Amino acid sequence: MQPLLRAARYLCKVPNCMLNSHAKIVTAFIFEAERACWRSPDNNRGFTRKSHTFLPKIFRKMSTQSSKERLENLQFPFLDDDTTISTVKESKTLFIIRGLPGSGKSTLAQAIQDQYKDACKVISADTYKITPAISSSIPEDYSKLDEDLVDYCKRDISVVVVDDTHHDRERLDQLFDIADKYQFKVLFVEPKTPWKMDCLQLKDKNQWKLSVEDLKKMKPSLEKDFLPLYYGWFLSKKSSENLRKTGQAFLDELGSLKVFKKESKYFLPAEDPKVKLDLTSYFAKRPPSVLHCTTKFTDFGKAMGADEYAQQEVVKASYGKAFTLTISALFLTTKTAGARVELSEQELLLWPGDVDKILPTDNLPKGSRAHITLGCASGIEPVQTGIDLLEFVKLEKAGTKGDEIEEIGGGKLQYFGNGMWMLLLSKKIEVKAIFSGYYGKGKLVPTQGSNKQGSAFNPCTII
Ligand code: 2AM
Repeated sequence: MQPLLRAARYLCKVPNCMLNSHAKIVTAFIFEAERACWRSPDNNRGFTRKSHTFLPKIFRKMSTQSSKERLENLQFPFLDDDTTISTVKESKTLFIIRGLPGSGKSTLAQAIQDQYKDACKVISADTYKITPAISSSIPEDYSKLDEDLVDYCKRDISVVVVDDTHHDRERLDQLFDIADKYQFKVLFVEPKTPWKMDCLQLKDKNQWKLSVEDLKKMKPSLEKDFLPLYYGWFLSKKSSENLRKTGQAFLDELGSLKVFKKESKYFLPAEDPKVKLDLTSYFAKRPPSVLHCTTKFTDFGKAMGADEYAQQEVVKASYGKAFTLTISALFLTTKTAGARVELSEQELLLWPGDVDKILPTDNLPKGSRAHITLGCASGIEPVQTGIDLLEFVKLEKAGTKGDEIEEIGGGKLQYFGNGMWMLLLSKKIEVKAIFSGYYGKGKLVPTQGSNKQGSAFNPCTII
């Protein structure tokens, strides 16, 4: 705490004309100190409320008037939940801070920076002299910002924060493309300040001197909830790599088994059954973004029940929070390859009530469909993986347990016929994931070449 005190004391000597530029820094110092004090069980030491008295009046007002509120405004799992913080650190996350000018975006960006320190880079539109405004085209100034953004994404940085109004859909699409390209998950964050939509107050708080009218023009696009293509749990980079490796080992082993080769006809073209089967080329596509387990496909708000899902308290409270998913099996059909997810009670709260069926008459346990798509065959959409898993579950429910083939490396191998294979893992895998949304276009991408770690599966040739 001592360096903070020293720095704050030093900044108190700053002349009035420089207050604006220094106010932010001082606020950040005060904020950080207060955060530490409020969170610490022993808040007698360090930077207490009393010790603010040496600060000039303006700073005292800024710091003491609303310190508790400021803390409340900054209650996000990625700032105060230890599991989430450690999961974010082992992931690649693009924080998109969104809100009207003056609503508290920079304070939020600063709080993220303070939490993740060297693992984090903040890009603020202010630095690029981008004035927030409604315009018909995306300002040229964004090209420099994007250059820097791409540069950070390419480096070994876990957290990249973009601090801008983000009121324009076209502009957001550019960011989603960058996130997809560099395999970042996206977290939308809005300030929780009570005045965030109050144009009268924002007029005095925004540094661009925007009028109430200017702010009102921008407000409608920021008032609406921005729903993703789908909600789900997005695996940390580390967990994705582990799961991919396990999937790869499974395929390697399965491909080498005589029993699989005997049944490979389901994977081969009828007109040319002798062709060499390479499972990597066979499952050539995977969804963009990082590996994920979809909870609700909301189709940017157009899907049935999308708004109702997004409005649920549990969905809102869980957004940006880490969970541990349990993988109980890996499966493979002629169309898709995936991992079966066993959801905990807490995770089931985020599971929609209407997705565990293929036919309206199906009556399967909640969460039956939970899966992670690892690869799709040519011409197959990833939505198929969930349907394939439900087919397995239906067979299991009907008493068809699947032929127990043998114990292989990872567990018990079962064959359900028609090219349907399942490996019940002897040791379930736990993966860390953040509950969030996917906002991009969702076009499938090749499993190979997108990163140096390789595809979901290595080449597996069946001779
Ligand atoms: P999945 O891989 O978890 O099955 C983009 O299309 C993503 O949305 C896919 O990866 C798929 O997730 C999910 N998806 C697409 N259409 C869907 C639908 N109709 N219902 C549920 N999930 C869907």
